[in-house]
This record gives sequence, C-alpha cells and structure tokens, in this order.
Amino acid sequence: MFRALIVTAIYLAARAFAIELIVDTTSGNASSPLLYGIAFEDINHAGDGGIHGQLLQNNGLRPSNDRLAAWSPVGPVDLYASTDHPLSPAIKRSLEVAVPPGTKGQAGFKNTGYQGIPVNADTYLNRWYVKGVYRGPVTVTVYGPSGRAYGSRTMTMNVNSTDYVFFETTFVAAQSFEPIHEWKLTFDAILVAGRSLHFALVELFPVTYHNRDNGLRNDIATYVEHLSPSFLRFPGGNNMQGSYVGSRWKWNETIGPVALRPGRQGAWGYPNTESLGLMEYMQWCIDAHMEPILAVWAGLSLDGNVVPGEAAMPFIEDILNELEFLLGDTSTPYGALRAEYGRNEPYDLRYIEIGNEDNLSGGCRSYASRFKSIYSYVHALYPSLTLIASTDQTNCLPEMFPATAYVDAHRYLTPDQFVGLFDEFDHIPRYPDFGVIVGEYASMKDDAGYVKQWQDMKGSCGEAVYMIGLERNSDVVKMASYAPLLEHFGMTQWSVSTPIMTSSLSTVDLGPLLTFLFPPTAESDRFQLHSRLHHRQHVILGANHVLPKQRHNHPTCVILRRFRPCVLGGILKTPFRDEHRLLRQARQLR
Ligand SMILES: *[C@@H]1O[C@H](CO)[C@@H](O)[C@H](O)[C@H]1NC(C)=O
Ligand SMILES: *[C@@H]1O[C@H](CO)[C@@H](O)[C@H](O)[C@H]1NC(C)=O
Ligand SMILES: *[C@@H]1O[C@H](CO)[C@@H](O)[C@H](O)[C@H]1NC(C)=O
Ligand SMILES: *[C@@H]1O[C@H](CO)[C@@H](O)[C@H](O)[C@H]1NC(C)=O
Repeated sequence: MFRALIVTAIYLAARAFAIELIVDTTSGNASSPLLYGIAFEDINHAGDGGIHGQLLQNNGLRPSNDRLAAWSPVGPVDLYASTDHPLSPAIKRSLEVAVPPGTKGQAGFKNTGYQGIPVNADTYLNRWYVKGVYRGPVTVTVYGPSGRAYGSRTMTMNVNSTDYVFFETTFVAAQSFEPIHEWKLTFDAILVAGRSLHFALVELFPVTYHNRDNGLRNDIATYVEHLSPSFLRFPGGNNMQGSYVGSRWKWNETIGPVALRPGRQGAWGYPNTESLGLMEYMQWCIDAHMEPILAVWAGLSLDGNVVPGEAAMPFIEDILNELEFLLGDTSTPYGALRAEYGRNEPYDLRYIEIGNEDNLSGGCRSYASRFKSIYSYVHALYPSLTLIASTDQTNCLPEMFPATAYVDAHRYLTPDQFVGLFDEFDHIPRYPDFGVIVGEYASMKDDAGYVKQWQDMKGSCGEAVYMIGLERNSDVVKMASYAPLLEHFGMTQWSVSTPIMTSSLSTVDLGPLLTFLFPPTAESDRFQLHSRLHHRQHVILGANHVLPKQRHNHPTCVILRRFRPCVLGGILKTPFRDEHRLLRQARQLR
C-alpha cells in the first residue's frame, strides 16, 4: 500500500528554467492492495490458441468445430471426422485415417495449430489415444514451411485393441525463426494398408507455466506474471454469459479430465475446448499470486433471454454447487469431487461477481430481482464472500443495495471522455464496506467516435489520466482491470484489448529494445513483447493497464509510470518492418 502523492510543480521562470517537484507522501487516500489486476475471457483466442498450453487446433474434433478444421492428410490417405468410435461421452469424434490398399511409405495427418505452432527451444509433450491394429514405428514432428524439422520423436506404437490406448511422448525442439509451423504424426502405411486407424484427443504442449499438467504457455504466463496483476477476473465477460442460455459457461463441464469436457461454441464466434477450466483458472491465480474474482451466470444470455423468478432456481443451485466445489470440505459431495480431481483443500476465494454487464442485452429491468435472489442464497451460505453487481447503473440495481456488496463499472470511452471523467469517483458517497471495481476500461474509440484497432498515444494518455483518478479515489475504487487480456493477432474479434501478442509463431523478445528506450527501474519492469514476424502488424503496448506492485513506493516511478505508457503507446504504434534489424540497431546503440 502506498499513499497517493500530492505533486506540486513550481515553474521558476525568472532565474532558470527549472521544475521543482515536492512530493508529499503523508496524505491522500490509501490505495487498495488489489487496485490493478486483469480481466480474462476467451476472446481473440486468448484462451485456446492463447495462454492455454495446448497447441493443436480442433484437437478434440468437438461438434462445435467444423469437422476437420486445422487437420489434413499426410500422404495418400483419407481423413474423416468419424463418429463410429467415440472416446468418451464428451469426445464423440475421432480422426479416422483410412489407408488405401497397397499404400507404401510414411502416411498420417497434420495440424496447423492456431495459425501456426510456436516452435521454440523447448521440450514438447505429445499425447493421443489410438484404436486399431498397428505394430511399428510412429513419428511426431514439428516443422517449418521450408520442410525443416525442428523437433521429432520416433517411437514404437503397438496396438491391437478394441479400446482406445493412450500414448505419450516428449521431444526437444530447436528454436525456429521461420514464420509458420505445423505438427504431424506419421506411421508406416504398408502396415495399415486397406484398413483404418482412429486417433482421438491429440495434445501437444510445450513445458508449461509452473510445469502444470494441462497448464499454460510458459512464455505468455510469465509475461503476464511480470505485470504483477493483483487479481484475475474470469471466466468473462460475454463469453461467460453465452450467446444463448444453453451455451453459457458451465463450470461443471470445465473440470476433471479433458477427455470428459465437451467444449462449447463460445460467444466470440469460435469453439472453446474448455481445457482452460475452473481448476486451471484457480491454479493460475495461485501460481501468479492473483486474487480470483469469479463471475457466475446471472440468468441473462446475450440474445436477451432472461431467466427470472422460480425458473432461475436450477441456475442458482448450480452456483451453490460451484461454490461447494471450490470452498466445501471433502465431506461435501462437490468438495469430494474436487479432491478426486486432485485438490484436497478448499480454494481461497473471496469475490464473486453476479453476471456480466447486466444493464445491457435487455437485462436492466430484471437485474435487481435476479441480483437479489442470487445474493440472498449465496450470502446466506457464504456470508464472508464479497458479492459484486455487474453494473454500476443504479436504475438496474435494487433500491436497497446490500451494504457490503460492490459494483462493477465498465468504461469504453474516447480519450477526451476519459480525461473528462478524471474526477468521476471524487464525489461518490463513501460507505464503510462499499466498493467499486472498474472491471473493464479502454479508450477504444478516437475522439471522433471511430472504433480503433490499436491503442495509440492519445488513448493511452486518456486512460492514464483516468487511472490517476482511480488511484486517488482508491478508498472506494478497490480494483481496476483493462479491457480483456490477450489477443492473438489475426484471430481477433475485439480491439482494444490489453495488447499482448499471443502469436502462435516464433516469439521475438523485444525486451532489449524496450529496455534501451526505457531503462528499467525494477527487475520486474522488463517488457517482453512477443511479436509475429511475417504479418508485419503494428506492434503496440498501451502499457498502462497493470503496474508492478513493488514500485508503488518509489516516487520517481510513480511519476514515470504515468507518462511512460503514453510514450510507449505512441512509439510502438509504428509498424515494425523488420524486428530483427530493429533489435540489432537497439543493441548497437546500447
Ligand atoms: C489382434 O488380436 C486378435 C485377437 O486378440 C488376433 O486374432 C489378431 O491376429 C491380432 N492381430 C495382429 C495384427 O496382431
Ligand atoms: C452441468 O450442469 C448443467 C446444469 O447447470 C447440466 O444441465 C449439465 O448436464 C451438467 N453437465 C454435466 C456433464 O454433468
Ligand atoms: C451500461 O453500463 C455501461 C457502464 O458499465 C455503460 O457504458 C453503458 O452505456 C450502459 N448501457 C446502457 C444501455 O445503459
Ligand atoms: C479520498 O479522496 C476523496 C476525493 O478526492 C476525498 O473526498 C476523501 O476525503 C479522501 N479520503 C481520504 C481518507 O483521504
């Protein structure tokens, strides 16, 4: 915690051009220890194809996918998304590789990943299920457009079974600088000629963040950790609400073995595997020291369907089950299920958000009653949880708002509007246990009202001014998080998001360049920018979304961090024609 600073600038024009800054650290509002965190949902492929470590696209051939999306044959074989041999009730399809009679040589199938597979100097874990008759070698390979293999493993696959058999192997890959990579699995075709093999739930992981099974990409999760976010608001967002009631995020279908997760059509136009599920989110919070802010479904889907009154009871029970799963001891049914899935002790969870943006999608009129009933059931069982309303619009909230609940305000505005709202929270009433979270904000339009694709200097500065307003009112503004974290360039539905590239390609560390331009004041303050080479897109860092906690006490940093993001926002807007050249120049300059 630190005290907000009163900074006085005195311009001494008469004697010399000088600016004197007097920094008073004794007065002002104390900052909330949770002030800057991150908002996460699977949008822009932030989850699948983003921070989640599994790199093959459409790996479960789940029904929401286009049949063979991302898959294609290697050699003269036929591929089918077969429903004849389901792996599980959730993974109903398998990849049938039909080998015509007389076929010789290597054959099999390949996957493009999410616009490519990142191939770094790393150890990869490959696993799959297979059914059929085969005794012989099988080879898995990651390779570039030049055909060069960067990592490969040949092993023996002996199967003759009416059930699926699980295989797992690892291989070490060399760092690649080619743009797009694929993965393939091949076998000796003659040994299958005239027959088929069925493969199901093929997975490929690099070494994951904290070495977790079914974990996160280490490069991206480490980057995020270096931003020192204090909390994680998850799992969304519109994607939690669902396009319609049946397609909402269902916690119970995101837990346990991935082979039991059916996945669903997300709200952002692409299928979600839900491999990044409830327990993976909680583990991420533990590993990165973030306070979890869990959003639960509040009876409103994006098509405007509202589940009111008695009809909402099953959904409220579902919330209570989810909370028992997270917080109950192992003598409770759902607590026992958690233990079965690998975690005995209850999780630490203090904040629940009831819905998402319930003032939108026609939800305003019903929200007061929906909020009240969910609040009363949850509060009765878990009185120490802080419950958060998903809008700050008072006409959508109950007249008697609970004294210990918070509201979540979202602000997507122009730069000038942000500047105009500098004092937004100066005058709101203070009550002892009331709090505001600004759960999403970004200057996503320019002052003329046009939606922009990338953040720019003016937008960054508008946000920075607004953030100073949040900080000085942090007795009431408890938490703030920028627009959704992560964006896979080229697979984007929404900008501006917290702009970190989640390229599926070789990553380039622009840290040296940025370090040169902006010497770090703390070890944690090294910006690593992962950039894709071949698309030549704008590289941006509107970096004022999260701030290293440990720097709060340092007055110089407090001032610096206000302004540097604006500069970053501007400079990095420039398209990098050739990152390597830029890096070399930066190194020479150093
Ligand atoms: C597979 O197993 C069955 C019965 O267990 C046997 O009849 C058959 O010959 C085996 N096939 C191969 C290729 O080993
Ligand atoms: C998950 O819970 C929902 C109720 O919210 C239920 O309809 C669904 O069948 C459950 N899924 C599984 C796999 O049990
Ligand atoms: C809903 O609230 C948000 C702020 O959280 C505001 O930006 C938006 O205009 C509101 N929508 C309506 C329809 O009032
Ligand atoms: C916090 O800031 C607000 C608005 O600037 C002010 O009214 C209030 O007195 C401050 N509280 C403290 C404890 O300084």
